[in-house]
Formats: sequence, structure tokens, C-alpha cells
Amino acid sequence: MKNVVFLGPPGAGKGTQAVDLARKYGIPHISTGDILREEIKAGTELGKLARNYIDDGNLVPDELAVDIIRKRLQKEDAGNGYILDGFPRTIPQAEMLEHLLSEMGTELSRVIYLDAPEDVIIKRLSGRRICHQCGKIFHTVNMPPLKPGICDACGGELYQRPDDEPEAIRQRLQVYRDKTEDLIQWYADRRLLERVDAGIARVETYKKLEEILSRLQ
Ligand code: AP5
Repeated sequence: MKNVVFLGPPGAGKGTQAVDLARKYGIPHISTGDILREEIKAGTELGKLARNYIDDGNLVPDELAVDIIRKRLQKEDAGNGYILDGFPRTIPQAEMLEHLLSEMGTELSRVIYLDAPEDVIIKRLSGRRICHQCGKIFHTVNMPPLKPGICDACGGELYQRPDDEPEAIRQRLQVYRDKTEDLIQWYADRRLLERVDAGIARVETYKKLEEILSRLQ
């Protein structure tokens, strides 16, 4: 089973890598951040509730994040594996996930820690641009679109996430250090953790991740 978690600081490249690997292995890429941004875009109650937390760089309440994942993992396409990107992000979320999976008669196969230094992360987040239409991720310097401001894949307009403004980036990094980093040891204790260098070129990190995922039956 490829029931995989991508763990790592904001900007490590979790989303960028997960999209390509999920396509290669035919499993869904489940990003709580993407799901919450969709809810905000659609103007739902959940979106309205989540908006302030996200824009300020804080985490939404654990119960809310777990509820999203509970519903998403029940869908049929998650039956053969998935990449969880951005979940769990706190020890209580990890405990709730463990409980939920055991109720479903399954478990995680691997937690991959995408590790990248803070100076690299800050440059990546500041230059990130995303397509409004299809969600493809670009970077003004590292992965620029062919035409500035326009998505290569669908011609949509590119935008900057509100939480990629400097103040929100600082807050997200602090929240990561305070609440998420402890999960590295938590999963290492359960012998699920594998570290991958994500501070290098995208293709190099991809190769390492591909190696790990292809080993999982
Ligand atoms: P979320 O969307 O999950 O944000 P994040 O974890 O902060 O992660 P990012 O999306 O910023 O980074 P990434 O690692 O995916 O990097 P990317 O591939 O885009 O969450 C947003 C918010 O939602 C949270 O702050 C919180 O409020 C809420 N939330 C979500 N989940 C939650 C949960 N479980 N509990 C509570 N709240 C939750 O890459 C970044 C940039 O770098 C891109 O421009 C890319 O092109 C570039 N890049 C990537 N790799 C490379 C490379 N190797 N070389 C050069 N450039 C690269």
C-alpha cells in the first residue's frame, strides 16, 4: 500500500512533488491546504471559518482538519493509496489519524520528511505563483512560466497566495517549529520516517521520492 504522508516545512516542495508522484502512481494527492483554499473560493461556511487562520499563517483547529481527512479518505479513489500533503500537522492530528486508519483496518506505509533549510524555503515561498484555474505551481525564478503571469498548462492567470506575504511566511515557519516539527521524532519512534533532502534541484528530490514510493507494495 502506498499510504504516504509528506511532512515538512512550508515551501519544502511537498505540493510540487506530490502532484507528479500521485500522477505517476495513480493515487490521489490529498492536500488539506488545497481543500481549504477550494472551500474559501467557493465561499462555504468552512471556507469562511478557515480564511482568517490561513491568511494569518496559523493552523485551523485540529478537529476541522481531521474532519476533512476523514471524509476524503472514505472516497473510493483513496482505496489503493494516497499522498497526504500537509496533514497531519500536530501530534493530536497524528493520533487522530492513527485511530481513524485503524478503524478503517489500514495504516500508514511511510512518512517522508522533506527537509530544506530556512533560507531556501523563504526564497521559494516569496516567489511562488499559482494558477487560478488549474492550480499548477510556478516560481518566478526557479520555475518561471513561459509568459509572465500566465499558466503554461491552461492559460489561466497566476496569483500569489495571501499567506506567501513576508509576515505570514514568518508566522507559518514559527507555527511549523512550534507544532509540526515534533512529528519528525513521533514518526521516527514508530519506524515510519524517511528523510529526503528537498533543498536541492526538483528532479533530484523527485528521484529519491520515486525510489521510496516504488519500494512500497
Ligand atoms: P498548505 O497549503 O499545506 O501550506 P504549507 O504546508 O505551508 O505548504 P506550502 O504549500 O506552502 O509548501 P509546499 O511544501 O507544498 O511547497 P510547494 O511545492 O508549493 O497549508 C496552508 C494553510 O492551510 C496552513 O497554513 C493552515 O492554515 C491550513 N492547513 C492546511 N493543512 C492543515 C492542517 N492539517 N491542520 C491545520 N491547518 C492546516 O513549493 C514552494 C515553491 O517552491 C513553489 O514556487 C515551487 O515552484 C518551488 N519549488 C519547489 N521545489 C523546488 C525545488 N526543488 N527547487 C526550486 N524550487 C522549488
